[in-house]
Amino acid sequence: MAGNVAIEQLAIADWVKGLAAMSTREFTLQNVQDYVIRHAVLPETLDKYCYFSKGNYTRNLIFKNDLFECMTVCWEIGQHSRIHNHRDQNCWMSAPIGRLRVQNYHVDRRDTAHGTCKIIPTARRQHPHLFKALRQL
Ligand SMILES: [Fe+2]
Repeated sequence: MAGNVAIEQLAIADWVKGLAAMSTREFTLQNVQDYVIRHAVLPETLDKYCYFSKGNYTRNLIFKNDLFECMTVCWEIGQHSRIHNHRDQNCWMSAPIGRLRVQNYHVDRRDTAHGTCKIIPTARRQHPHLFKALRQL
């Protein structure tokens, strides 16, 4: 897909400024996804937001307003996130530095009495009840 779209490379400050210019009404799943696909971040502009730790991956806030938070998530090679979801929030990712493997899961069975569920790995994307785990390659 990236081969079919014009990608503009921006410093992270300009990238965030462009995203923050969207109104609440414009800030939809599709519009944000289109923005992320069409606007790449210049990796060297992320230097001051990149902190790596041998113990665990780190999350570093770049920008926050009423609509979204933008952060770097820094994994050392081989580190990974736990399987998680974002409840009623959305998440878009890009990897300006390095490579990531994303594994999505869907809920196969839910036991509300015990607060547990059975999840199964899936290749599906954009499902509201997906869980995911990420691994730095
Ligand atoms: Fe996440």
